[in-house]
Amino acid sequence: MNLPPFKLERYFARYEFNVEYLLCASDCQSFTVQELLSLEPDAAARFGEHWLGYTESPGSPSLRQEIAGIYTGISPEQILVHSGAEEAIFLLMHAILGPGDHAIVHFPCYQSLIEVARGTGCDVSPWTAHEGDAWALDLDELERLIRPETRLIVVNFPHNPTGYLMPDDKYRRLNGIAQERGIILFSDEVYREAEYNSADRLPSACEINPTAISLGVMSKTYGLPGLRIGWVATRDVTLLAKMAALKDYTTICNSAPSEFLAELALRHRPALVERNLEIIARNLSILDSFFERHADRFVWHRPKAGPIAFPRLLDGDIEAFCHDLVTTSGVLLLPGTVYEDTGNHFRIGFGRANLPEAVARLEEYLDR
Ligand SMILES: Cc1ncc(COP(=O)(O)O)c(C=O)c1O
Repeated sequence: MNLPPFKLERYFARYEFNVEYLLCASDCQSFTVQELLSLEPDAAARFGEHWLGYTESPGSPSLRQEIAGIYTGISPEQILVHSGAEEAIFLLMHAILGPGDHAIVHFPCYQSLIEVARGTGCDVSPWTAHEGDAWALDLDELERLIRPETRLIVVNFPHNPTGYLMPDDKYRRLNGIAQERGIILFSDEVYREAEYNSADRLPSACEINPTAISLGVMSKTYGLPGLRIGWVATRDVTLLAKMAALKDYTTICNSAPSEFLAELALRHRPALVERNLEIIARNLSILDSFFERHADRFVWHRPKAGPIAFPRLLDGDIEAFCHDLVTTSGVLLLPGTVYEDTGNHFRIGFGRANLPEAVARLEEYLDR
């Protein structure tokens, strides 16, 4: 295993906890433990009595039951809980890939989706999104990338960092191509349920494709990254067993308090999602007007889903711009270079409640 530094995490490590405005967060507004416990009258008492022994390695049966309820036709035995989505990505790649294999990865992407694949010794081809086509992916290009040794196709809808959501018919064709070719589809769905129009929501890959793996997490749409609870859902239980065997060498089992709180939160999923979609909708209209006012400086591609987008700075170098902005005004944007992007893009996040103040500060900086 040979992993380069995780550029995005290193960038965040420098600023995340000492900057005034984190205007590039990929998660939605979070909650306190107390807010979660107040969702049910007896939850605080039950939490106080919750046992702190080791937990069941695949995830507690009642948590897996709640997670399975997110999907149609998926049972608790088809869920494996992890420490965040990150552990699941790591174990999945190591369960499937190795030297001599080939993987195709939606690009640009959250770095571990491509680097962990490469780190297994497998050969990786980026499947590049087209900015000129609202960050769409081309299925003909995918077919040209497929080789006899292709084992895995990795996609992420809604997409980090562009907010792209594939249309339903195309997504079903993608699943069909993977199935016909005997290739496993790994579908990173950590921003699912954050579609601005619920009619745009795609089925989970695990619902429509018997060999696909869907990745979910508490962090993004539900706003609970501090729980570090993520999971995979798949009907391929042999693959789940391989991942479970690897998990014995990473975290063994999940945090007991986090399992309790994740299960509680998932029982109230619609309320959590509704709160965060309201924040996103309000913030998006602020961003629409902001980018309209500054059309001479930025290109704005309004996403269809999720709390992040990938606009382009027209003049100047994006790294220098982000650096100057954060040091003089305390507003953090994420330069696209951490995604190996060369198009002068930056990630902006709009799932947090303080976006209006952050955008006002950004505008003051631009108007200086
Ligand atoms: C697309 C994508 N997948 C996976 C993850 C990892 O999620 P977590 O940090 O909750 O483990 C992230 C986090 O930013 C992400 O954006």
